[in-house]
Amino acid sequence: MVQMHIPVLLDAVLTRLDCQGGVFVDGTFGAGGYTRAILNAHPENQVIAFDRDPTVQSIADKVKSEFGDRFSFIPDCFSRVAEYVTNPVDGFVLDIGVSSMQIDGPERGFSFRLSGPLDMRMSGVGQSAADIVNSYSEKELADILYTYGEEKQSRRIAKAIIENRPITTTQKLAEVIHSVMPRPKDGSDSAMRSFQALRICVNDELEELKSALNASLKILKPQGRLVVVSFHSLEDRIIKEFLKENAVSRQHKNKYIQDKVVINKPFIVPEKEIVVADDTELKNNPRAHSAKLRWAIRTEVS
Ligand SMILES: C[S@@+](CC[C@H](N)C(=O)[O-])C[C@H]1O[C@@H](n2cnc3c(N)ncnc32)[C@H](O)[C@@H]1O
Repeated sequence: MVQMHIPVLLDAVLTRLDCQGGVFVDGTFGAGGYTRAILNAHPENQVIAFDRDPTVQSIADKVKSEFGDRFSFIPDCFSRVAEYVTNPVDGFVLDIGVSSMQIDGPERGFSFRLSGPLDMRMSGVGQSAADIVNSYSEKELADILYTYGEEKQSRRIAKAIIENRPITTTQKLAEVIHSVMPRPKDGSDSAMRSFQALRICVNDELEELKSALNASLKILKPQGRLVVVSFHSLEDRIIKEFLKENAVSRQHKNKYIQDKVVINKPFIVPEKEIVVADDTELKNNPRAHSAKLRWAIRTEVS
């Protein structure tokens, strides 16, 4: 059964966004969990939400009917946020990855546990996972599995895919992978990394994230907050690198202030530790297990 998405790290997101009456961009509207919480946090908060998945339009319509002009929805990719948001905003939040509605909907083709068409397109348009699996060369497939899934057995799996084409369902792809992979000792599924890799490739997820992070430099006001929740190491690495390049840490900020040296970076990272879910949240929402929150505050530097 398709379950409604439970927002991950919601309290931590709200605290870091500091929603005290301002304009916030929710780049990943999904089931509207963050958006609603931001709108409810202060009567003057406004949200501009994005999602590339057209199936969330009905949820957006409902939020619109409740919050009126305080809410607007843009059915597009968050990489294009700076094209729509031209007045600087107080916060930009991203909760990247797939929603429960997407992963639990067999017809969307994201899950190796459910049988459905091998699709995986969040937007429903463009190249599907089946297009890639059935037309790319063995080397191209191995590269995708290795790069986006960090799959060490990428060549073995790519060979099995080529030998079993055409593959048009999630079930058949999972069976092909299982047939050449040993069962992992940790109880995970040997198809997991390959499915992740195809999903990232189909939706160009890493480039989307890089573009959104760069756009945050343009759309945030001084003191505006960037809050990003990610779910796997490839995403987290991109966010970490972005902040390494564009931010000073709180520790350095104090040094700069004491020594009267001007901060020359567009962000400050105020908290050293990555924020993760606590035991209570993990008990209620197993999907929060791999979630990591990083955040930063925009400075005056352009
Ligand atoms: C994890 S869910 C967000 C859930 C949301 N925070 C909530 O509380 O309901 C991620 C959502 O982001 C959307 N998404 C993923 N990548 C996107 C992109 N590049 N542009 C726009 N939306 C994207 C997905 O379609 C999905 O609905």
